[in-house]
Amino acid sequence: MHAITAGNLRNAHGGESMAHMRYKIWADVAQREGFPNIARLFRAISSAEIVHATGHFRELGSQLGDSLCASMAVFGLGTTSQNLQGGINGETYEITEMYPTFLETARFQRENGAQQSFQYALSGEKTHAALFQKAKTALDSTKRDAPLGPIQVCGVCGWTYEGDIPDECPICKARREKFTTFA
Ligand SMILES: [Fe+2]
Ligand SMILES: [Fe+2]
Repeated sequence: MHAITAGNLRNAHGGESMAHMRYKIWADVAQREGFPNIARLFRAISSAEIVHATGHFRELGSQLGDSLCASMAVFGLGTTSQNLQGGINGETYEITEMYPTFLETARFQRENGAQQSFQYALSGEKTHAALFQKAKTALDSTKRDAPLGPIQVCGVCGWTYEGDIPDECPICKARREKFTTFA
């Protein structure tokens, strides 16, 4: 594998791993503040970041060894409204800066597996940013928990959706059995 794409996979793995943990922490804050639906949204998206982190790790395959990873990460234990903004900021960075450039580099280097892994993550993060924004708008305007239906997470690509499980994932075509429901 080309060194730059391998490094991008390692850094993306690091970023997704930290997002997974950060959202778990923020889910606990939301639960304590009395917002169980927003806590559930953070837990669902936290699980989607496991899917992305795992995909990137697997693409690195047999490239063994230690490495320093550098990833943009959002820090801070704020209120739930602030934490939702942190989520929006992190996802927006991934959507507008990180994954488009990682994806173009992988395409240039003809790294097909990495391309797919970055494409899956890019598609998933768009759904995450939109769901965080929806929850923040509801919370800020009503000062109450956001009304959220069941949240579905595709176990193959991390695509995340509010509503009933679709017959197949629109991103990776996984069948409905591959989804996990957070209700
Ligand atoms: Fe995300
Ligand atoms: Fe999927």
